Amino acid sequence: MTRRRVAALISGRGSNMAALLAAAENPDYPAEIALVLSNRADAAGLAHAASRGVRTAVVESRAFRGDRAGFEVAMEAELARHGIEVIALAGFMRVLTEGFVARWEGRMINIHPSLLPAFPGLDTHARALAAGVRLHGCTVHLVTAGVDEGPVLAQAAVPVLEDDTEAALAARVLTEEHRLYPAALGWLAAGQVRVEQGRARLSGVAMAKGCLANPLPSAPALSTP
Ligand code: GRF
Repeated sequence: MTRRRVAALISGRGSNMAALLAAAENPDYPAEIALVLSNRADAAGLAHAASRGVRTAVVESRAFRGDRAGFEVAMEAELARHGIEVIALAGFMRVLTEGFVARWEGRMINIHPSLLPAFPGLDTHARALAAGVRLHGCTVHLVTAGVDEGPVLAQAAVPVLEDDTEAALAARVLTEEHRLYPAALGWLAAGQVRVEQGRARLSGVAMAKGCLANPLPSAPALSTP
Protein backbone atom coordinates (compact mmCIF):
# COMPACT_ATOMS: atom_id res chain seq x y z
CA MET A 1 0.00 0.00 0.00
CA THR A 2 1.29 3.45 -0.88
CA ARG A 3 0.52 5.86 1.88
CA ARG A 4 -0.55 9.35 0.90
CA ARG A 5 1.85 12.05 2.04
CA VAL A 6 -0.08 14.44 4.27
CA ALA A 7 0.85 17.82 5.71
CA ALA A 8 -0.89 18.85 8.92
CA LEU A 9 -1.19 22.65 9.08
CA ILE A 10 -1.35 24.08 12.58
CA SER A 11 -1.27 27.42 14.39
CA GLY A 12 -1.27 26.38 18.03
CA ARG A 13 -1.86 23.51 20.44
CA GLY A 14 -1.98 20.82 17.78
CA SER A 15 -4.02 18.21 19.61
CA ASN A 16 -5.81 17.17 16.40
CA MET A 17 -2.45 16.97 14.64
CA ALA A 18 -1.27 14.72 17.49
CA ALA A 19 -4.29 12.48 16.93
CA LEU A 20 -3.39 12.23 13.22
CA LEU A 21 0.23 11.40 14.08
CA ALA A 22 -0.91 8.68 16.46
CA ALA A 23 -3.16 7.14 13.81
CA ALA A 24 -0.38 7.28 11.22
CA GLU A 25 1.92 5.31 13.50
CA ASN A 26 -0.09 2.28 12.40
CA PRO A 27 1.58 1.06 9.18
CA ASP A 28 -1.83 0.02 7.85
CA TYR A 29 -3.13 3.60 8.03
CA PRO A 30 -3.38 4.92 4.45
CA ALA A 31 -1.64 8.24 5.19
CA GLU A 32 1.65 9.31 6.66
CA ILE A 33 2.15 12.71 8.22
CA ALA A 34 5.14 13.77 6.17
CA LEU A 35 5.13 17.37 7.41
CA VAL A 36 3.73 19.53 10.17
CA LEU A 37 3.64 23.10 8.91
CA SER A 38 2.89 26.04 11.19
CA ASN A 39 2.34 29.71 10.46
CA ARG A 40 3.66 30.49 13.95
CA ALA A 41 7.05 29.54 15.35
CA ASP A 42 5.56 29.40 18.86
CA ALA A 43 2.89 26.81 18.02
CA ALA A 44 3.03 24.23 20.82
CA GLY A 45 2.26 21.41 18.40
CA LEU A 46 5.63 21.79 16.66
CA ALA A 47 7.53 20.36 19.64
CA HIS A 48 5.21 17.38 19.84
CA ALA A 49 5.65 16.63 16.15
CA ALA A 50 9.43 16.94 16.40
CA SER A 51 9.44 14.62 19.42
CA ARG A 52 7.73 12.01 17.22
CA GLY A 53 10.37 12.36 14.53
CA VAL A 54 8.00 14.15 12.15
CA ARG A 55 9.41 16.85 9.88
CA THR A 56 8.29 20.34 10.80
CA ALA A 57 8.45 23.69 9.06
CA VAL A 58 7.41 27.23 9.93
CA VAL A 59 6.25 29.86 7.48
CA GLU A 60 5.62 32.89 9.66
CA SER A 61 2.45 34.57 8.44
CA ARG A 62 3.49 37.71 10.37
CA ALA A 63 6.46 38.07 8.06
CA PHE A 64 4.04 38.37 5.12
CA ARG A 65 1.62 40.89 6.61
CA GLY A 66 -0.65 42.10 3.83
CA ASP A 67 0.90 39.69 1.35
CA ARG A 68 -1.22 36.55 1.45
CA ALA A 69 0.00 35.52 -2.00
CA GLY A 70 3.62 35.67 -0.84
CA PHE A 71 2.76 33.69 2.29
CA GLU A 72 1.11 30.99 0.24
CA VAL A 73 3.98 30.83 -2.26
CA ALA A 74 6.30 30.15 0.68
CA MET A 75 3.93 27.50 2.02
CA GLU A 76 3.62 25.85 -1.40
CA ALA A 77 7.41 25.65 -1.55
CA GLU A 78 7.49 23.72 1.76
CA LEU A 79 4.66 21.46 0.63
CA ALA A 80 6.43 20.72 -2.64
CA ARG A 81 9.77 20.14 -0.90
CA HIS A 82 8.12 17.42 1.17
CA GLY A 83 6.15 15.87 -1.69
CA ILE A 84 2.82 16.60 -0.03
CA GLU A 85 -0.31 15.18 -1.66
CA VAL A 86 -2.99 15.98 0.91
CA ILE A 87 -3.42 18.83 3.43
CA ALA A 88 -5.16 18.41 6.78
CA LEU A 89 -5.92 21.76 8.41
CA ALA A 90 -5.72 21.22 12.16
CA GLY A 91 -6.37 24.46 13.97
CA PHE A 92 -4.75 26.49 11.20
CA MET A 93 -5.92 30.04 11.85
CA ARG A 94 -5.27 31.72 8.48
CA VAL A 95 -7.84 32.08 5.75
CA LEU A 96 -6.48 30.72 2.48
CA THR A 97 -6.95 32.43 -0.88
CA GLU A 98 -9.29 31.08 -3.52
CA GLY A 99 -6.29 30.23 -5.66
CA PHE A 100 -4.66 28.10 -2.97
CA VAL A 101 -7.97 26.38 -2.19
CA ALA A 102 -8.57 25.68 -5.89
CA ARG A 103 -5.11 24.13 -6.32
CA TRP A 104 -5.82 21.74 -3.42
CA GLU A 105 -9.46 21.07 -4.26
CA GLY A 106 -10.48 17.59 -3.14
CA ARG A 107 -7.13 17.16 -1.38
CA MET A 108 -7.53 19.50 1.60
CA ILE A 109 -9.71 18.86 4.64
CA ASN A 110 -10.50 20.76 7.82
CA ILE A 111 -11.96 19.97 11.22
CA HIS A 112 -14.39 22.44 12.68
CA PRO A 113 -15.80 22.38 16.22
CA SER A 114 -19.51 22.47 15.42
CA LEU A 115 -22.11 20.56 13.48
CA LEU A 116 -21.84 22.59 10.29
CA PRO A 117 -23.60 24.45 8.76
CA ALA A 118 -24.45 25.56 12.32
CA PHE A 119 -21.90 27.88 13.90
CA PRO A 120 -19.23 28.48 11.27
CA GLY A 121 -16.41 30.77 12.41
CA LEU A 122 -15.07 31.28 15.92
CA ASP A 123 -16.36 30.76 19.47
CA THR A 124 -18.53 27.85 18.43
CA HIS A 125 -19.01 26.39 21.92
CA ALA A 126 -20.12 29.67 23.48
CA ARG A 127 -22.48 30.24 20.56
CA ALA A 128 -23.93 26.74 20.87
CA LEU A 129 -24.59 27.34 24.57
CA ALA A 130 -26.14 30.72 23.89
CA ALA A 131 -28.37 29.26 21.20
CA GLY A 132 -29.56 26.54 23.57
CA VAL A 133 -29.00 23.63 21.21
CA ARG A 134 -29.13 20.18 22.81
CA LEU A 135 -26.67 18.55 20.42
CA HIS A 136 -23.34 20.02 19.37
CA GLY A 137 -20.25 18.43 17.86
CA CYS A 138 -17.63 18.58 15.17
CA THR A 139 -17.37 18.30 11.40
CA VAL A 140 -14.66 17.19 9.00
CA HIS A 141 -15.16 18.72 5.57
CA LEU A 142 -13.37 19.26 2.31
CA VAL A 143 -12.13 22.82 2.04
CA THR A 144 -13.74 25.10 -0.52
CA ALA A 145 -13.46 28.85 -0.98
CA GLY A 146 -16.09 29.73 1.65
CA VAL A 147 -14.80 29.58 5.23
CA ASP A 148 -16.12 26.46 7.01
CA GLU A 149 -18.10 25.48 3.94
CA GLY A 150 -17.37 22.55 1.67
CA PRO A 151 -18.65 18.98 1.39
CA VAL A 152 -19.04 17.28 4.76
CA LEU A 153 -17.16 14.01 5.18
CA ALA A 154 -18.12 13.15 8.74
CA GLN A 155 -19.70 14.57 11.87
CA ALA A 156 -19.79 13.55 15.52
CA ALA A 157 -22.45 14.82 17.90
CA VAL A 158 -22.27 15.22 21.66
CA PRO A 159 -25.00 16.22 24.11
CA VAL A 160 -25.11 19.70 25.58
CA LEU A 161 -25.77 19.24 29.30
CA GLU A 162 -27.89 21.44 31.54
CA ASP A 163 -25.00 22.84 33.57
CA ASP A 164 -22.41 22.90 30.79
CA THR A 165 -19.66 25.48 30.72
CA GLU A 166 -17.92 26.48 27.53
CA ALA A 167 -14.80 24.60 28.69
CA ALA A 168 -16.67 21.42 29.55
CA LEU A 169 -18.49 21.44 26.22
CA ALA A 170 -15.28 22.17 24.30
CA ALA A 171 -13.53 19.25 25.99
CA ARG A 172 -16.42 16.89 25.16
CA VAL A 173 -16.30 17.95 21.51
CA LEU A 174 -12.49 17.77 21.35
CA THR A 175 -12.52 14.13 22.47
CA GLU A 176 -14.72 13.36 19.47
CA GLU A 177 -12.56 15.49 17.15
CA HIS A 178 -9.62 13.27 18.01
CA ARG A 179 -11.59 10.17 16.99
CA LEU A 180 -13.27 11.61 13.93
CA TYR A 181 -10.38 13.39 12.21
CA PRO A 182 -8.03 10.40 11.85
CA ALA A 183 -10.92 8.32 10.55
CA ALA A 184 -11.98 10.91 7.98
CA LEU A 185 -8.43 11.54 6.79
CA GLY A 186 -8.03 7.79 6.39
CA TRP A 187 -11.11 7.59 4.16
CA LEU A 188 -9.86 10.43 1.99
CA ALA A 189 -6.36 8.97 1.75
CA ALA A 190 -7.73 5.55 0.87
CA GLY A 191 -9.76 6.97 -2.02
CA GLN A 192 -13.12 6.32 -0.38
CA VAL A 193 -14.38 9.88 -0.90
CA ARG A 194 -15.81 11.38 -4.06
CA VAL A 195 -17.79 14.54 -4.56
CA GLU A 196 -21.04 14.58 -6.50
CA GLN A 197 -22.97 17.81 -6.97
CA GLY A 198 -21.23 19.43 -4.07
CA ARG A 199 -21.91 16.55 -1.71
CA ALA A 200 -19.29 14.13 -0.40
CA ARG A 201 -20.07 10.47 -1.00
CA LEU A 202 -18.25 7.75 0.94
CA SER A 203 -17.75 4.18 -0.15
CA GLY A 204 -16.85 1.24 2.05
CA VAL A 205 -17.49 3.22 5.23
CA ALA A 206 -19.82 1.90 7.93
CA MET A 207 -22.68 4.29 8.64
CA ALA A 208 -24.14 4.77 12.12
CA LYS A 209 -27.48 3.19 12.85
CA GLY A 210 -30.10 4.46 15.24
CA CYS A 211 -30.17 7.99 16.55
CA LEU A 212 -28.70 10.17 19.23
CA ALA A 213 -31.26 12.24 21.12
CA ASN A 214 -30.74 14.62 24.00
CA PRO A 215 -32.58 14.68 26.34
CA LEU A 216 -33.56 11.04 25.95
CA PRO A 217 -37.19 10.85 24.90
CA SER A 218 -38.21 8.10 27.29
CA ALA A 219 -41.93 7.50 27.53
CA PRO A 220 -43.53 10.20 29.73
CA ALA A 221 -44.81 8.97 33.07
CA LEU A 222 -48.55 8.47 32.88
CA SER A 223 -50.35 10.56 35.42
CA THR A 224 -53.12 8.75 37.19
CA PRO A 225 -56.34 10.74 37.56
C1 GRF B 1 -10.03 22.50 17.21
O1 GRF B 1 -11.16 22.72 18.02
C2 GRF B 1 -10.44 22.43 15.76
O2 GRF B 1 -11.70 21.89 15.57
C3 GRF B 1 -10.42 23.88 15.34
O3 GRF B 1 -9.34 24.45 16.04
C4 GRF B 1 -9.09 23.70 17.21
C5 GRF B 1 -7.67 23.28 17.13
O4 GRF B 1 -7.26 22.60 18.29
N1 GRF B 1 -10.31 23.99 13.91
P1 GRF B 1 -5.90 21.79 18.24
O5 GRF B 1 -4.81 22.79 17.86
O6 GRF B 1 -6.04 20.69 17.26
O7 GRF B 1 -5.71 21.28 19.64
